[in-house]
Amino acid sequence: MTLTNQAARKQELIEEIQQLKKDRNAVILAHLYERVDVQDVADFHGDSLGLSQQAAQTDAEVIVFCGVHFMAETAKLLSPQKIVYLANPNAGCPMADMITKEELIQFKAEHPGAPVVAYVNTSAEVKSESDFCCTSANGADVVRYAVEKTGASEILFVPDKHLARTIQKQVPEVKITYWEGFCPTHLRMDPNDVVKLKKEYPDALVFAHPECDDPMKEMADMIGSTTAIVKAAKASDNNTFIICTEDGVSRRLAEDCPDKLFITPTRASAVCPNMKLTKLENIRKSLLGDVPEMIIPEEIAVPARRCLDAMMAVPASGIKVLQTPSPASVA
Ligand code: 13P
Ligand code: SF4
Repeated sequence: MTLTNQAARKQELIEEIQQLKKDRNAVILAHLYERVDVQDVADFHGDSLGLSQQAAQTDAEVIVFCGVHFMAETAKLLSPQKIVYLANPNAGCPMADMITKEELIQFKAEHPGAPVVAYVNTSAEVKSESDFCCTSANGADVVRYAVEKTGASEILFVPDKHLARTIQKQVPEVKITYWEGFCPTHLRMDPNDVVKLKKEYPDALVFAHPECDDPMKEMADMIGSTTAIVKAAKASDNNTFIICTEDGVSRRLAEDCPDKLFITPTRASAVCPNMKLTKLENIRKSLLGDVPEMIIPEEIAVPARRCLDAMMAVPASGIKVLQTPSPASVA
């Protein structure tokens, strides 16, 4: 196919998606790590927290989720009466798969009485055994809330040890015992690349996701969720940024702020293969009902929903940044 034909086919596909979306009263949600063309046809793109809230609020009858398995499960838990499709049913999250329900039951037995805070990057089964859910945007708020509600002095955190360590710094008064899970994509970024990039661009601000390892976060001017990073980069007077998270975030920012420079360290490796599995064709297929609907058995859905509802009850205290050099320039 020539480039002109490809562009024409893509335009046709986009128009077909828009029409199908109207016909089915559907909403398309896309994580910021998704391909830019997928984000562009979505009604809402954002981080895990924003997408969860959007899933809960929409009046649409159908949700097409462009993300990974746990995200579509979360949308289904929050909107049980809606039809939910994971646009590409093969898109999973290796970090979420690092803990099973049985392993969590054993972990709890080793720490009797300690409430469990589960990162949203967990299966519905793991959420069904957890007390509170959290995302990278509200982890510290949730841990504080969990302590206030239960009076516990120890919290179990699953599955991401790096997010747990960031939260521990924000809430030093609580003992957080964490599972040894991690995100392979965030760990593939090399902190030595940040050192080199800082020499090349001495004025660049370094923004890091809490799923990064400690050496990366120690060099960061700001640590935050994907939305926090996007908001801070847009609001900052600075022109150059080293963005230590999945490469989709730099690409999104480059589209939205063409006057600024966004660099992902170890760019070729900082790509989550699962987040790139969804293409426009998968969205079309979902809207045609050509992919399996997300179904969660009631015995899992009821306790998992309780865990998500506990997070939704936590008062939002705005975008969280752990450290920033120039608070005046960051929203
Ligand atoms: P957030 O969207 O919460 O920043 O999480 C990043 C991530 O890795 C999602 O899989
Ligand atoms: Fe999972 Fe990491 Fe990919 Fe997010 S970026 S879906 S945490 S593997």
